[in-house]
Formats: sequence, C-alpha cells, structure tokens
Amino acid sequence: MSQPRVSAVVLISGSGSNLQALLDTAASDLPLEIRAVISNRADAYGLERAAEACVPSRVLDHTRFPDRETFEAALAELIDGFEPELVLLAGFMRILTPEFVARYSGRMVNIHPALLPAYPGLHTHRRCLEAGDTEHGASIHFVTAEVDGGPVFLQVRVAVDEDDDADSLAARVLTQEHRLYPAAVRLLCEGRVRLHDGRVLLDGQPLAQPLQLEPAN
Ligand code: GAR
Repeated sequence: MSQPRVSAVVLISGSGSNLQALLDTAASDLPLEIRAVISNRADAYGLERAAEACVPSRVLDHTRFPDRETFEAALAELIDGFEPELVLLAGFMRILTPEFVARYSGRMVNIHPALLPAYPGLHTHRRCLEAGDTEHGASIHFVTAEVDGGPVFLQVRVAVDEDDDADSLAARVLTQEHRLYPAAVRLLCEGRVRLHDGRVLLDGQPLAQPLQLEPAN
C-alpha cells in the first residue's frame, strides 16, 4: 500500500465487533494504523481482540473517577499519549462533555445503530420496531456535544422483516455496521470527508445528504 497510514485510537466498551472489522480491514487494504484500543470496562471482549491483533490496549474504568470531568481528563491524557489523528468510537457507551468533544472536533467519529437523526440514544432496534418502520440501519457521524447528534456522513440501510424482533434486527444491522465503519474510515483516511464549520465536506463540497453505502450483494 503506497498511501500513508492515518493513525487512530479506538474507544470501546464491549464486544468490539466493529473494532474487529476495523482491525481486519486495516490489516488488508485500509490505510489506517490503530495505535491503541481504550476501554472503560475491564471485561470488554474487544480488549482480547486488540491483544490478538497485537494492538496495545488500556482500561480506564470510569467508576474509579469522582466525576465525568476527571475521567475525561485522564482519558484525554491517555488518548493524546498515542498521538492519534483520529479517535474512533466503536460502541463506547459514555456520554461525553462538550469540552472533551471540542478537543477532538473534526477528528472523532462514532457509529450508531440507527438512521440518524432517527433514534439517538439506546434501544434503537426496539424503538424502530415499535414505530412500525420498514427500514432501519446505522450511521457514522462526527461527534459533537449533542448525543448521537453530530453531522452524519455515511449510512447503511437495512430492511425490517415482518417477523423481526429486536435481536434479529440488531444482528442484521450489526453485520452491516461491519461494512460501514471501515468504509467511513476510508473516506476519512483518504481526506475525502472532513468537518468544516460544523458541516461535512465531501471532496471539498458541502454534503447535502449523508452518503449511502451500497447494499451488500
Ligand atoms: C454497535 O451496534 C454500535 O453501533 C453501538 O454499540 C454496538 C457496539 O457493538 N453503539 C451505540 O449504540 C452508540 N450510541 P460492538 O462492541 O460489537 O462493536
């Protein structure tokens, strides 16, 4: 690969299957260097995935800090020690303060299992089914102070089946997330997508609507 690699730290809280998708793609054809994985939970399975891939990992248990601000100060110090260009949230289940978000503005993105702006927050699959939606999906967005509210630049759509329950729908969306996150990171690594004055630019032009990932064949 001739393209220089873009460095990143990945933040997780759990299984880390999206982390795995990034590790796998970085090992093949994504110009991404994952310098470290940081988890706020010591039992996150994603830590084993990092070890398997020989990527350094750290645990920063938020329950050991008196408040969000001191946790985030330690988290920022940890992240900055790896000098990443990108901070990738992959199932990192902590609400972040505006100060922390501002520190990584334009460099921090998140994956969320919904077609944002629909269903920010938790239990997106159940809420989608309860609303009777025929379509669900996942989004990649730049992180801003609003929870799951930052500018979205890439989405994948998943049809809801008549017999879906929250688990079956979540599983199908998650499979598509594993295509989505590497595709989004590729756009960032190639410098095609960036945040400017709170808006997403694609190849230097304002992006009116989020890009849509082609359905899997
Ligand atoms: C993923 O579905 C991700 O979209 C979601 O957590 C899961 C993590 O799975 N993130 C959020 O809900 C953020 N608001 P993983 O640990 O297997 O990647």
